[in-house]
Amino acid sequence: MTMRTRTQVGIIGAGPAGLLLQHLLARAGVDSVLVENRSREYCEKRQRAGVLEHGTVELLKEIGLGARMEREGLLHSGIYLQFAGERHHIDFPSLTGGRTLTVYAQTEVVKDAIAVGHPIHFEVSDTAVRDIDTDRPILSFTDRDGVAHEIECDVIAGCDGFHGVSRPAMSGLRVSERTYPFAWLGILASVPPSTDELIYAHSPQGFAMHSMRSPEVSRLYIQVDPDEKIENWSDDRIWEQLQVRLGHPGWTLTEGPITEKGITPMRSFVAEPMRQGRLFLAGDAAHIVPPTGAKGLNLAVADVKVLADALVRLLVEGKSDLADAYSDTCLTRVWRSTWFSWFMTSMLHTFPVSTFGSPAEAEFQERLQIAQLRQVTSSTAAATNLAENYAGWPLP
Ligand code: FAD
Ligand code: PHB
Repeated sequence: MTMRTRTQVGIIGAGPAGLLLQHLLARAGVDSVLVENRSREYCEKRQRAGVLEHGTVELLKEIGLGARMEREGLLHSGIYLQFAGERHHIDFPSLTGGRTLTVYAQTEVVKDAIAVGHPIHFEVSDTAVRDIDTDRPILSFTDRDGVAHEIECDVIAGCDGFHGVSRPAMSGLRVSERTYPFAWLGILASVPPSTDELIYAHSPQGFAMHSMRSPEVSRLYIQVDPDEKIENWSDDRIWEQLQVRLGHPGWTLTEGPITEKGITPMRSFVAEPMRQGRLFLAGDAAHIVPPTGAKGLNLAVADVKVLADALVRLLVEGKSDLADAYSDTCLTRVWRSTWFSWFMTSMLHTFPVSTFGSPAEAEFQERLQIAQLRQVTSSTAAATNLAENYAGWPLP
């Protein structure tokens, strides 16, 4: 037997995009049902991004999801760039008219949004969408007790990440992508951060980064080959590489127990347009960026802010102008973030010689990267460009 129900907006995916969209819509009196194929515990533990842009922080506060973030988030005023034995601080507030960053993990944003208590079906299977070119699209799934559901919606929001079912349900998408010749091995360690600000380090052994989750927990990354296996990386080997790549005179990297480790491939991907009929894509379902500029989560938040405004206009006021403009409005920011993530990734990683035709060409790339790093650490104009992009543009 199939349960047939109705809602205004069917949302697929309880990541940051789906959860914030649901909350924004509820505040405007638009009802929604959210379906998620993982368990609540899994969604709340999945380690991913950690840096919130100024605009993301402002939005979370404005919509009543900022209380714990304001207590526990770590306020940052810039980043360190390290290369060729030098470490430089880029000060965001002075370069951007006061914009700052907050380190508050994606896991915590997700927990805060789930805790509000909007209707979510966790652990669903067989999620599918159909009739997206009509004004009554259907979201179907099987709930965790094995009951089949069909929800008749006004609109469906595909917030189901890169591997979801929404994007494949659309036709005629224009896809642009780049696969980078490296991956990130990330760890969580139970040790106070050895740094006040995030450190991005370019080194002959490969890129490394020092981030954090709290005054007691550090998050660190090293560049590895894209086909590297996590089993090849003992805790000792990881710390040894972090020491070599992040090492700086007069500074000590304190080691501690590693509680989690994993490898993430690096890719840029954009699918356009972000809408077909009554199906709208938001966040990683439509685009992914490599993590070097900390844009993925912030871009997902920007998409759903635009989408919520557009859907309220459509469903409450009966006007389709913002919904019609949704994809173009989002894609301007998406491409700006895609450019910035590519720029940071290209400037900071060590490219394998095999990426190029000869060692001399690899050397050319390396020399260009150092020249670029010298520019952003010595020219106010170049530093301002980096700071404006990293700290993020005001939300629409
Ligand atoms: P997601 O967070 O992916 O959420 C999508 C949700 O949809 C998931 O909960 C998924 O389980 C659910 N779903 C998928 N398919 C279905 C289905 N068929 N039915 C129901 N539900 C479904 N960004 C950074 O800035 N820094 C980082 O360090 C960083 N690390 C990352 C590591 C990994 C492994 C990944 C994948 C991404 C990382 N990102 C990082 C990017 C950032 O986390 C994402 O941009 C962000 O999660 C996007 O949010 P989203 O809600 O669009 O998608
Ligand atoms: C993180 O804290 O996980 C993080 C921070 C900055 C990045 C990527 C990841 O660029």
